[in-house]
Amino acid sequence: FLLLLLSLVHSFAEQRSSEEEEVERSQFPSGFLFGAATSSYQIEGAVLEDGKSPNNWDVFCHIPGGIKNGDTGDIADDHYHQFLEDIEIIHSLGVNAYRFSISWSRVLPRGRLGEVNPKGVMFYSKIIDNLLLKGIEPYVTIYHHDHPQELEERFGAWLSPLMQEEFVHFAETCFENFGDRVKYWTTINEPNLLAEMAYLWGRYPPAHCSAPFGNCSSGNSDTEPLFVLHNMLLSHAKAANIYRHKYQLKQGGFIGIIANTLMCEPLRDIELDREAAKRALAFYIAWMLDPLVFGDYPPEMRQYHGNELPRFTSEETKLLTQSLDFIGINHYTTLYAKDCIHSTCSSDGDRAIQGFVYLTGERHGVPIGERTGMRRFFIVPRGMEKIIEYVKERYNNMPMFVTENGYSPPEKEDEQEEDLVQDAKRIEFHKAYLAALARAIRNGADVRGYFIWSLMDNFEWVYGYNTRFGLYYVDRQTLRRTPKLSARWYANFLTNSGHNH
Ligand code: NOJ
Repeated sequence: FLLLLLSLVHSFAEQRSSEEEEVERSQFPSGFLFGAATSSYQIEGAVLEDGKSPNNWDVFCHIPGGIKNGDTGDIADDHYHQFLEDIEIIHSLGVNAYRFSISWSRVLPRGRLGEVNPKGVMFYSKIIDNLLLKGIEPYVTIYHHDHPQELEERFGAWLSPLMQEEFVHFAETCFENFGDRVKYWTTINEPNLLAEMAYLWGRYPPAHCSAPFGNCSSGNSDTEPLFVLHNMLLSHAKAANIYRHKYQLKQGGFIGIIANTLMCEPLRDIELDREAAKRALAFYIAWMLDPLVFGDYPPEMRQYHGNELPRFTSEETKLLTQSLDFIGINHYTTLYAKDCIHSTCSSDGDRAIQGFVYLTGERHGVPIGERTGMRRFFIVPRGMEKIIEYVKERYNNMPMFVTENGYSPPEKEDEQEEDLVQDAKRIEFHKAYLAALARAIRNGADVRGYFIWSLMDNFEWVYGYNTRFGLYYVDRQTLRRTPKLSARWYANFLTNSGHNH
C-alpha cells in the first residue's frame, strides 16, 4: 500500500512539475522557426473569383448533411481579400515563419489540361513577397485537401495513378513560380488522415466508406485507403525528385511531407494492448513514413494485409527513399489502444487497415486528458514528447518540424466574443506542449520549428466554423479579427522570453 501511495505521489508530482515548468524561447535552438499555420480552403473564400475553378470541397460543402450547420468555405475568412491585413496580424505576433497552402484550383483550374492562372499565381506571389518584406519565412504546403473537382470527375482523383502526374505538374508549377523565394516546401498535408477520412470513414470528399463501416451507404472496397495513400506517396516522391533535380540546387530549399500523428497508450495494462498501441502507430504513422525512409510499408502491415498492400517497384523505392529532407508532424491527441485480435471490440476496431486496434479517449469513463472541442482530441502534452521520440528513434533522427499543434475549446451555447477571446486554456495548452517539445529537444530530437494551428478561427472541415482553433477570433458576421489573450501571450513569449532569432 505504501508503495502504491508513494508511486501515486511521485507520478502526481511529476505531472505537476511538467505542467508548471516555465517555457522560454531561449530553450529552443537558434534559428528555430516559430509560426502559425493555415490552409487555403479553410481561410480564403473567394470561391469562384479570378479564374478559380470549383474544387472537391466546394462541391462537397454544398451537399446537404456533410458539414455541421451547413457551413461552407465560400467566404471562409475572406483571406483572399484581406491577406495584407492578415500579414499584419501575423507580423504582430512576432513569428519568424508562417505556414499556408496553395489552392490547386486557383493556380491550375483545370489541372494539366489547362493553363496556369496568372491571377492565382499573383495572389500567392504577393503573400510570399509581403511575408519576406517583414522577415517572415513562408513555409508552404502544396496540397492541403483541396483539388480541382474536374480531376475527381475525370479519373477519380487520388484513386487513380493519373493523379500522380497531375500532382507533379502542380508541384512543379509551384517550384517554378515561387521557389525562388520559398525555402520550405511540404508536398502533402496528412495523407494518412486524408486517406482514412475520405475513403474509410466517408467524412471528407469524395465520401467513400470501406464496407461495411463509416457513415455513408455505399460500401467501397476495403483497400481504397491503401491505394489512395500509395498514390499520394508516389506523387510526393515524384514531385520531390523534380525539385531535387531541377530546382533545389539553384533555389536552395528543403522539401518534406506532413504526417498526422497521435500517441497511443495501452487501454489495459496487458501485453496485448501494449502491442496494440504499437500496432496503431505502425498502421498510421509508419504506414506513410516507412516507405519514404526505408522504401517499403512497415513489416507489421505486410503481415496483416498480405498482397492487398500495394507494392513499389525498385525504381519507385529509390525515388521514395530520396524524397525527404525533413518530416512535418501535426500533433493533437493521445488515445488508448485496445487489441481487437484476441479481444472482442466494437466494429470500430475490427478492421485490418487500422491494425485491428480499437482507439478510445476514455478508460472506465475517465478521459485520458482534459477534453477539448474535438471529440477525439485530449490534452496530453507528454504524448507529443513521446511521438517525437518515436519518430526520432524510428527514422534516425531526421529533422522534424511540428507543423501543427493547437487547441479548440468545447463549444458552449450562446457563446460571445468576450468569452472566446479570454482563452487562458489555450495559453496553458501551448505552454505545456512547448515545454514537452523543449524536453524532446533536450533529449536529442532534431526539431526545427513549431507552428500553432491556427493563426485565426477558420473553417474546421466537417465541424464548420464553431470549432475555433485561432489565436485570433474571427467574427462570422463582420469577419473582423480580434487578438485573443493567447495571441498576446504568444507575441510576448516570442519577444520577451530570451532571444533567439
Ligand atoms: C489538421 C489539419 O491539417 C487542419 O486542416 C485542421 O484544421 C487541424 N488539424 C485541426 O483539426
